[in-house]
Amino acid sequence: MKAELALGARLGVQRAALWAMAARGDELARLVSAPWRGNPYPVYERLREGAGVHRSSTGLTVVASHELCSKVLRDRTFGVRTADGVEPPPFAASGLPGGVPVIPSFLELDPPDHTRLRALARPAFSPAKIAGYRHDVGGVASKLMVPLLFDDDFDLMAQFAAPLPIAVISSLLGVPDVDAAVFARYGRVLGASLDGVKSVWHALLVRRANRELRGLFTRLIAERRANPGRDVISTLAASAELTELELATTCELLLLAGFETTTNLIGNAVWTFARNPDQWDRLRADDALLGPAVDEVLRYEAPVQMTARFAHEDTEIAGVPVAKDGMVIVLVGAAGRDPAAFDRPDEFDIGRTGQNDHLAFSSGAHYCLGAPLARLEAEVALRMLSAHFPTLNVVGTPRWRPTTVIRGLRSLRLHH
Ligand code: HEM
Repeated sequence: MKAELALGARLGVQRAALWAMAARGDELARLVSAPWRGNPYPVYERLREGAGVHRSSTGLTVVASHELCSKVLRDRTFGVRTADGVEPPPFAASGLPGGVPVIPSFLELDPPDHTRLRALARPAFSPAKIAGYRHDVGGVASKLMVPLLFDDDFDLMAQFAAPLPIAVISSLLGVPDVDAAVFARYGRVLGASLDGVKSVWHALLVRRANRELRGLFTRLIAERRANPGRDVISTLAASAELTELELATTCELLLLAGFETTTNLIGNAVWTFARNPDQWDRLRADDALLGPAVDEVLRYEAPVQMTARFAHEDTEIAGVPVAKDGMVIVLVGAAGRDPAAFDRPDEFDIGRTGQNDHLAFSSGAHYCLGAPLARLEAEVALRMLSAHFPTLNVVGTPRWRPTTVIRGLRSLRLHH
């Protein structure tokens, strides 16, 4: 109870300090505070002014232009931890005693550990391997679609956008008997913790989700060691290059990264098309636009809006000094709306050609390992929805989740 009280007090002070900075005009503090959080694009526009680099009163440096975001992500002077490899503390730790041991996954590690662990996971997610799953992903999507065709109205998030990627990544990893609602809860709780733990209640939920996931993977890893299959858990469990804790952490990363983001990509896509019916008609008329449409959603309404890097030596970004171990926030969601990189950036146009790449899957050493899978799932989902729904009739106005790093909808009700 003492730990809970101390955590509650610390979080309360932090929240109040951030809100005060936001009220005084600090744009980074605004991104994590209501009411600004819901529509970050005007904040991004202000942050892109000038050179596109900004020093926040939080002490952090923020980059918001496409050019600088891309540069920082590719620059080996920056890593995902401090130069000594110690900070930041593992994300998704609850801050409360009694949790399972949490170590950083390879998403949060620099070379050489990043290189070693990513190489072990990479073969399972290669573009060629993923292309072979198109039929299976289509099968899962059809199964989920059938009941929706008979309902007058339904929640696309809970009934389609969440269970589709959960079923796909679970089957790839080899997680049987999945309860999609329980996994969706893990995703929401741990996805929200990318902003930092928000309250004592949130910390308790994080601790519980971590414990349950660890229990699940510890059991499955033991089972696959005794009785290997063709799934990713079996392949990773057969490798002598991973410690027990690294193995469990890698499985947890692949599961969570594999659905939480893709769920929001599908939701953000449908909501954006609903507000741009001319683009929906265009998509329905031409299958060749499916791939470009997915990338346009990633540019326009990125499911992961930002990431962070640490300088490994004293350096500068567009003339702004960054000290060794200084933290830089990279706003990939702002890069997607940069007029220097995209014509008419605030217009949703699935026919864009010959423009810069968005950075929604990041860039450089940590470029999303699951990008081919995410693209495949989103294409299959949009193909199916466009075949069955000539118009997208949204019930009410959906609300964004109260998160900053992850941008996604709480629910999205559609009616026939
Ligand atoms: C729309 C869907 C997705 C989005 C927007 C997304 C976005 C991202 C981003 C921004 C990063 C890098 C973060 C950074 O640079 O700090 C990342 C890394 C990663 N993603 Fe995704 N992701 C998606 C889907 C997936 C899927 C389906 C998987 C499947 C396993 C996956 C697995 C990973 C992994 C393992 C990493 C860590 C790569 C590394 O650190 O080397 N992601 N993703």
